[in-house]
Amino acid sequence: MIIAVTNQKGGVGKTTTTVNLAYYFAKAGKRVLLVDADPQGNATSGLGIDKRALSASLGDVLLGSVAAAQAIIATNVPEVWLLPTTPQLADTEAQLAAGDQRFSRLKDALKSLLAPGESTAQSYDIILIDCPPSLSLLTVNAFIAADKLIMPVQAEFYALEGLGQLLETMKLVRQRLNPALDVLGVVVTMYDSRTTLSQQVFEEVKKHFPDKLCATVIPRNVRLAEAPSHGLPVGMYDRWSKGARAYKGLAKELMKRLEQNTTTTNSTKA
Ligand SMILES: Nc1ncnc2c1ncn2[C@@H]1O[C@H](COP(=O)(O)OP(=O)(O)O)[C@@H](O)[C@H]1O
Ligand SMILES: [Mg+2]
Repeated sequence: MIIAVTNQKGGVGKTTTTVNLAYYFAKAGKRVLLVDADPQGNATSGLGIDKRALSASLGDVLLGSVAAAQAIIATNVPEVWLLPTTPQLADTEAQLAAGDQRFSRLKDALKSLLAPGESTAQSYDIILIDCPPSLSLLTVNAFIAADKLIMPVQAEFYALEGLGQLLETMKLVRQRLNPALDVLGVVVTMYDSRTTLSQQVFEEVKKHFPDKLCATVIPRNVRLAEAPSHGLPVGMYDRWSKGARAYKGLAKELMKRLEQNTTTTNSTKA
């Protein structure tokens, strides 16, 4: 299962969501690979990895000079591996734009890492892709590689702005290259229960995505903002914080959806 965490707005909680879901999916017994597809590399540093010390990164993999399995490294988190990035990925993207197969590079690179049934030292149950804050070539690569999308939406006035464009991109990808792509969940982040604005945003998102909105909301919580500077997911930094409990609940809710998905697919096939 490959899941891309996406929203072309910056600062809405994509990276925070990716890192913390990776942790709780792994805690639930999954082997997890996090792919850092944002040249800013916040997920890479948020997992305690020093970018200057990397011998290979996602950019090399996309250009075909290194196999994905060679660039993957272990992290501070048990059962969470990382395909890291460096700022150089921005240049790589420009190079890719001029090359062949520019849309399916990531899909091809990740293909060998999902071996259903037989688990090897380099196969994963869940691959989470942290997308950049744009609808760039990297994002399109992520949409083509992914089975599902998770869309974090910040509880603020302009929350839904831009989502139309994102859904349009998803539609195009579906028509051309990845017909099965679907939204797994829309999650409201930085929710402040003391404000009516947060409540209004939740209701508004619910109107647009009645069956995709997650019941779990992520509160604004300073522990979530502090954890990355310690190179840890919040569950290892302060497991009883509100933020940690929220992401644990979100992971549970999403895993339930994934299971239901598999059951429906199986029963349609039968
Ligand atoms: N629920 C939250 N409560 C408090 N701070 C948060 C929360 N979610 C994210 N942040 C902080 O907000 C900033 C943007 O979040 P981030 O996950 O990096 O967004 P994105 O990846 O969409 O740009 C970061 O500094 C992060 O630590
Ligand atoms: Mg980010």
